[in-house]
Amino acid sequence: MNEPVNQPNTAPDGAPDNPLTGHDYDGIQEYDNPLPGWWKWLFIASILFGPPYFFFYHNGAEGRSVSDRYERNLAANLKLQFDELGDLKADRAAVIKYTYEPDWLKSGKAVFKTHCVSCHGKDGGGVIGPNLTDEAYKNIRDIGDILKVLQNGANAGAMPAWKNRLSTPEIVLVSSYVASLRGTTPSTEPKEPEGRSIPPWPGPPAEEESKTADAPEANGEATAAALDTETSNSESAGE
Ligand code: HEC
Repeated sequence: MNEPVNQPNTAPDGAPDNPLTGHDYDGIQEYDNPLPGWWKWLFIASILFGPPYFFFYHNGAEGRSVSDRYERNLAANLKLQFDELGDLKADRAAVIKYTYEPDWLKSGKAVFKTHCVSCHGKDGGGVIGPNLTDEAYKNIRDIGDILKVLQNGANAGAMPAWKNRLSTPEIVLVSSYVASLRGTTPSTEPKEPEGRSIPPWPGPPAEEESKTADAPEANGEATAAALDTETSNSESAGE
């Protein structure tokens, strides 16, 4: 038996603490080097840690995973936002108002992403449903019609009705978002225009210069007339 070239580690008393195992593979011998203690404990600790961790996140109650928590927070945040909207009425004036409020359009976009992209495309360029970015519409002559199509659907349910599936703020905000898509360029190849070209949307309501305007303006009467609201003129949305 050849002496191994590498000197074995030696214990404090000088005696080798890792004698050869006696395995011999074509002259290649093997030391009996145990793994360091800290490594073994880490290994054992990770085994002990694993099952409880698994049960906590996968077999335990709902809502423990990071993504569940994220969704909960997102929903809570959305609810906060919607509380801020108060008892929003689903009417033409509201659709116009929020079409010109970029922050609220983001909420509308979130609704669109969740419920509408499958048929209307990521940026509204159209898939099964028509292109919402061009000037031609099938069921819409006026901005208020977007709301009606959203609520009641169109073409015998090819466009589903959302009245019972989305909350009022969601319907209003996604309507505003749809209105805001007009004239934008979708990232994907847009669908051919369908329907008829319609006149441009009405401009922003006059009172909406800025939300921070502290001086209450002439109580929105001129605005309401200008908007030609049917019944309800939104009471200037104060805090
Ligand atoms: C199942 C597919 C589908 C989904 C989901 C869907 N739509 Fe539609 N949508 C359609 C179809 C199809 C039409 C065209 C109806 C017609 O032919 O008159 C349409 C029409 C419309 C129109 C009218 C367009 C026009 O030119 O008259 C609007 C606005 C609209 N959808 C918005 C939405 C919004 C907002 C959502 C999400 C809340 C949504 N749609 C979800 C299929 C869908």
